Amino acid sequence: MNGAREFSLSVSIRRHDEIALVIIDNPPVNATSQAVRQGLLDAVEKINADPAVKAGVIGCAGKTFIAGGDIREFGKPPLLPHLPDVLQAIEDSGKPLVAAIHGTALGGGLETALACHARVMAADALVGLPEVKLGLVPGAGGTQRLPRLVGMLPALDLVASGRQVKAQEALSLGLVDVVVSGDVFEAARAQARKLIGKDLRRAGRLEVPACDQVAFAAARAQVDKKARGQIAPGVAAGLVAAASALPFAEGIARERKTFFELMRSDQSRALRYVFAAEREVARVARLEGVAPRPVEKVGVIGAGTMGAGIAVALVDGGYDVRVVETSAAAVDAGVQRIEGLWARPLKSGKLTQAQFDQKRARAYVSADFSALADCDLIIEAAFEDMAVKQDIFSRLGALARPGAVLATNTSALDVNAIAAFSGRAADVIGLHFFSPAHVMRLVEVVEGGRSSADAVATGVAVAKRLKKLPVVCGVCDGFVGNRMLAVWRPVAEMFLEAGALPQDVDGALEAYGFAMGPFAVSDLAGLDIAWARRKRLAATRDPNERYASTVADRLCDLGRFGQKTGAGWYVYPDGKRTIDPVVSELVEKVSAEKGFARKTSPAEDIQRLVRAAMINEGAKILSEGIVGRALDVDMVLVHGYGYPAWRGGPMFEADAIGLECILADIEALRAFAGPAYEPAALIQQLADSGGTFGELAPGEAAPKNSLVES
Ligand code: 3HC
Repeated sequence: MNGAREFSLSVSIRRHDEIALVIIDNPPVNATSQAVRQGLLDAVEKINADPAVKAGVIGCAGKTFIAGGDIREFGKPPLLPHLPDVLQAIEDSGKPLVAAIHGTALGGGLETALACHARVMAADALVGLPEVKLGLVPGAGGTQRLPRLVGMLPALDLVASGRQVKAQEALSLGLVDVVVSGDVFEAARAQARKLIGKDLRRAGRLEVPACDQVAFAAARAQVDKKARGQIAPGVAAGLVAAASALPFAEGIARERKTFFELMRSDQSRALRYVFAAEREVARVARLEGVAPRPVEKVGVIGAGTMGAGIAVALVDGGYDVRVVETSAAAVDAGVQRIEGLWARPLKSGKLTQAQFDQKRARAYVSADFSALADCDLIIEAAFEDMAVKQDIFSRLGALARPGAVLATNTSALDVNAIAAFSGRAADVIGLHFFSPAHVMRLVEVVEGGRSSADAVATGVAVAKRLKKLPVVCGVCDGFVGNRMLAVWRPVAEMFLEAGALPQDVDGALEAYGFAMGPFAVSDLAGLDIAWARRKRLAATRDPNERYASTVADRLCDLGRFGQKTGAGWYVYPDGKRTIDPVVSELVEKVSAEKGFARKTSPAEDIQRLVRAAMINEGAKILSEGIVGRALDVDMVLVHGYGYPAWRGGPMFEADAIGLECILADIEALRAFAGPAYEPAALIQQLADSGGTFGELAPGEAAPKNSLVES
């Protein structure tokens, strides 16, 4: 090595004095692709071979330190050199090597840093081992070096949760040695200089600090409980435990073997699909090249639960927000709601008072409708009633500035009808947020029959700026998510009247991996809203349509509206969900009144038929062109309805199981739940041709005149 600069494909070495700077430049996120691994190995060798170099700094070009192993290489035969061997070479280096971390050091990135002899971290950087989120475990020493550096309990937490850690926490854990606000490379060079000639701290050679075994066992039990069927967190916890039981080399070998076993697992395949789908979902072919309209000032109509959540999400996303309510009292309540949503982060220290004040100043709440006149986007989140929407959109049509996008947050009403009231339907889209809107990532961007492409592109762009997941869909009753819910939810209720109890159905679906079963969800959301809707629609309901259980109506008759009244499908003494014999009796009574001979159903039957109902409706949604791709349906279910991400979503799972089997399940569903559950023609076609949902080209399943790309 002889001067300022040497290059490999993605790794270069620069040197001005006795410290060599090893720079990885592998866009977009400096993943440890084969060329990076080779380049790093060469760099270590060169540093050690060059007598003029006394130490090295390993850092990255671009916006981030190494964000992990290269996901694109996963599932393919591994290419030499292997990352663990490269990291062993770093750790064994005779000359000090210091990691300079900016952006994110994730997975194999943090593992690279752990193999270095010291770590310097930018104050705004994040570090973590997120492999479990891909159904994996760290595969390059993370489970073995981390406990040696930070102790067993913190390592268990980080490895099993995959959470990202800010600089101050990383420092206090001993995960990094220095945190700097200024130039991280300069600070790393200074650190490297300090280590020249000193005994180097090599994580793999440290003793694992002693740990309270009882506390560790309790923490592992918590990991298993939280995993809800996902394998990787428990396996990762086991590897951390092995760090204290096995010599380092054996621990590393076990970790590597486990990493490859999990790589081949269905769960990892599903989670990697979700990772890719989350990034793909906002790319809609027919919107490519369509410039979104510029948006800086956003109006929100209504400061109820949804409106307040949307306003907070918008301000958090950097927009100036005008919230409009109907009266002074409603303005006061709205202000309180909005402030309330920032109160918790303020209390926990996530927001400073100054940040709170700044955010608060960006959300102007008033009863003056004309405050919306200069907004670039106006999101209506008012009461779900067509007359209310008519009034608002006809006023907006006259008031909003030319070019403003007008959006409705309706979850159930016809976006085309709402658009027509405005007299400027090309400007109108649906932006269906999910509650709590400042937390939930999913947004259905609803394209009306006359919505212009740039209005839809604007909805997508705004959702992306809010760091949300926009799923573009056409107009139908309930769009994607609520339409599917309206189909599978009655199946859950049928199981009640056929012989199950709410806890059996919830238990079956929670064991499947859903965060909460449908009856527990209804208690959380409140039974009264759906009850009011049922009453409203009763007159027009086709009696041959999907099954309607009467148990929910009877609970509402008793004033049991869920958690807010302390009772619904369950009771909640001390806030804890508890089985109520009154509900069991009521369910049994309704079964008897309807002449059902009650018979318990195995959990597997409940899971299979509920899933079949979802897949069948998902296929119909695809064939009607409401969305263009199976991944759109999956993202709605995973991000809006608690479908376990490690199953990939219903359409991915259908492909994994095989559409012949799914057809048989749908036939069983039809036999159980009636003719409304007729199999979708698309599933039959794909099963006959050996195709899958995932292989369909965008819009391929839809009629050619549909909204989605063709
Ligand atoms: N490998 C390959 N490509 C990756 C990648 C990775 N590890 N991480 C991100 N990318 C790609 C994305 O797919 C995306 O590509 P696209 O533009 O073609 O869709 C591009 O990089 C930008 O990613 P994001 O859109 O996510 O950009 P953000 O700026 O929002 O986020 C990030 C950046 C925080 C680094 C985020 O991408 C992320 O969390 N990445 C995954 C990190 C991860 O899981 N690392 C662990 C991998 S497993 C591992 O390391 C195994 C090891 O133990 C051996």
